[in-house]
Amino acid sequence: MRHALKSAGLILTVALSGCRHEADPFAVDAELLDRARGSEASVWYRFDDDLLPRSSGSGHNEAFLRTRFNDVAASILDENGKVMEDTLFPNGSLIVKELWLDENTLGTYAVLLKRTGTQGADADGWVWGYVRANGEVRESAINAGNACRSCHGQTGHIDRTLMNAYFP
Ligand code: HEC
Repeated sequence: MRHALKSAGLILTVALSGCRHEADPFAVDAELLDRARGSEASVWYRFDDDLLPRSSGSGHNEAFLRTRFNDVAASILDENGKVMEDTLFPNGSLIVKELWLDENTLGTYAVLLKRTGTQGADADGWVWGYVRANGEVRESAINAGNACRSCHGQTGHIDRTLMNAYFP
C-alpha cells in the first residue's frame, strides 16, 4: 500500500512537472500585465498624461483613459506625440491604454504588443491583452484579438490603433 501511494505520488509529480514544461496559454497575459504595470511604456500620447474622458467610439466603458507607448512604438510618434499617418508600428512596439473607473481608480490595462508570428499574434503581428489592474484576465491574449480587431479596423485606424481618430 505504501508502495502504491508512493508511486501514485511519483506519477503525480511527473504529471505536474510535465505540465510546467508545456507552454502555459495564459503566460502571455501575465507577461502583458507585468509589462503594462512596469515603466517600459512611458511616452504618453500627445506627451500628456492627463486622463481623457472616454470617447463616443470607445469599446471600453470606463470613464477615463490615457495611452502610453514604449520607445519602439514611440519611434512613430510625431512632434506632437500623435501617431504618424500611414505608418506601421515596428516589431517590439508596446502600447498600454489605461482604463480608469474614476479619477482615482485604475480598472484595466488594454495592451497591444507587436510580436509577429508568436502565440496570440494576429495577421498584423499584434498581440491583444485585456487584464484588470488586479490581475484578472478580461479577455485572454490567446484569442488573438477576436473581440477587438473589427472595431480597431474601422475607418481612420492606423495599423489598428484608434487614438488619433478619437483624440486628434
Ligand atoms: C467598439 C470598439 C472597440 C473595441 C471592441 C475595442 N476597442 Fe480598443 N479602442 C477603441 C477606441 C475608439 C480607442 C481610442 C481611445 C478611445 O476612444 O477609447 C481604443 C484604444 C485602444 C488602445 C490604445 C491604442 C490605440 O490607439 O488604439 C488599446 C491598446 C486598445 N484599444 C486595446 C483594445 C483591446 C485589447 C480590445 C479587446 C479586448 C479593444 N481595444 C476593443 C475602440 C474599441
